[in-house]
Amino acid sequence: MFPSDPLQAPLWTVIASLTHAERMLEVGCGHGYTAAVMASAAGPECRVDTIEEDRDHADLAEQAFEQRGLSKCIRVLRGRGQNVLPRLKGHYEVVFLDGDWREYPRYIPHLVRLTRPGSIVITANLNPLFGGWGGKLPGKPAILSYMTRLVRDPHFRTYLVPGEWHSISVRV
Ligand SMILES: C[S@@+](CC[C@H](N)C(=O)[O-])C[C@H]1O[C@@H](n2cnc3c(N)ncnc32)[C@H](O)[C@@H]1O
Repeated sequence: MFPSDPLQAPLWTVIASLTHAERMLEVGCGHGYTAAVMASAAGPECRVDTIEEDRDHADLAEQAFEQRGLSKCIRVLRGRGQNVLPRLKGHYEVVFLDGDWREYPRYIPHLVRLTRPGSIVITANLNPLFGGWGGKLPGKPAILSYMTRLVRDPHFRTYLVPGEWHSISVRV
């Protein structure tokens, strides 16, 4: 389990301010580091939903949120992104994808449905497409399919961050 780099934490303050975030969504909660940063960045009125398939990770994240007084702001939704996303309703101003990249192509209809103009989608774990992480991880075709569809989708404008291999998309 690899939490995001703490150097990225200020990004969430920028994005929360830019979008006036009231609801944020993460796929791949891990132990809850980024969800906690997102909730803290956006303030007490914002709600963060974070999806996690691994029971132990979800348990640890919920304990951490409880200890930090963030349980009212953050909801852990247990299951795989591809199964949980279809059940979600309403709009999120911010979406962060940080789970199994092989599912990403299936997320696109939900990204459209669950965002509105001005929403931001950050996608992590694009490294396998570019030979990162030793170049041996599976899922390169899925990332290629996802990025191609996202870049061509008229609902989004997408920037691929060089070197970091995250993408930033704004819903238009
Ligand atoms: C890189 S870690 C997440 C780190 C977290 N976002 C952070 O920055 O602190 C990836 C997490 O995603 C979970 N995960 C992987 N694929 C998933 C999926 N398809 N749906 C939900 N969770 C998934 C893993 O169990 C793991 O806990």
